Amino acid sequence: MTSRFPTLTLLDHPLIQHKLSLMRDRTTRPVLFRQLLREIGILMGYELTRDLTLKTRPIETPMTTMDAPFLAGPVTLVSILRAGLGMTEGLRELMPDAKEGHIGLFRDPETHQPREYFVKLPADPGRVLLVDPMLATGGSAVHAVEVLLDRGIAARDIRFLCLIAAPEGVERFAAACPDVPILAAALDSHLDENAYIIPGLGDAGDRLYGTE
Ligand code: URA
Repeated sequence: MTSRFPTLTLLDHPLIQHKLSLMRDRTTRPVLFRQLLREIGILMGYELTRDLTLKTRPIETPMTTMDAPFLAGPVTLVSILRAGLGMTEGLRELMPDAKEGHIGLFRDPETHQPREYFVKLPADPGRVLLVDPMLATGGSAVHAVEVLLDRGIAARDIRFLCLIAAPEGVERFAAACPDVPILAAALDSHLDENAYIIPGLGDAGDRLYGTE
């Protein structure tokens, strides 16, 4: 948790910072960029799932019986298209049984507001990990949370996971979604006039898919 933003937790393990610096480097090609994002997804996922609840059930080991702890409920990974897909890969490796959902948003050219073009979410999602690597203005992230809330998912069951957050985005997200924790690897300096994060890493979707 940072004192400036009470709902933001920085997961700044040295390995995450090292891999993020490689991703920021403009000479890093998409194949390595994708691999690093997947690896950071695994490392962040480990921390981010620390508060999942457990429930015991009896099992037999080869030696005896015991009440063994298992996850109490489902976990759902929700990617905000398209850059969220790259980060979800690592989380999927960590939690291969997780359900998955997708939220596709575009910016309405007239209103400049985010609009959905695709929403598919599982029934009974349990804990929802909403994933988008870049929290820039916060517009898409806030809209995606509204989509989840509209479908009856409680704010207390949602976590927002990103790689890099801009202060402007954190502020907007925290004001609109005060009950949804934000987990990020880094809090950068600011947004430029085109809403890119500075220093950032450029357009995450373009860097992932080589569409620059
Ligand atoms: N989205 C990105 O991919 N990069 C930014 O810097 C801001 C939004």
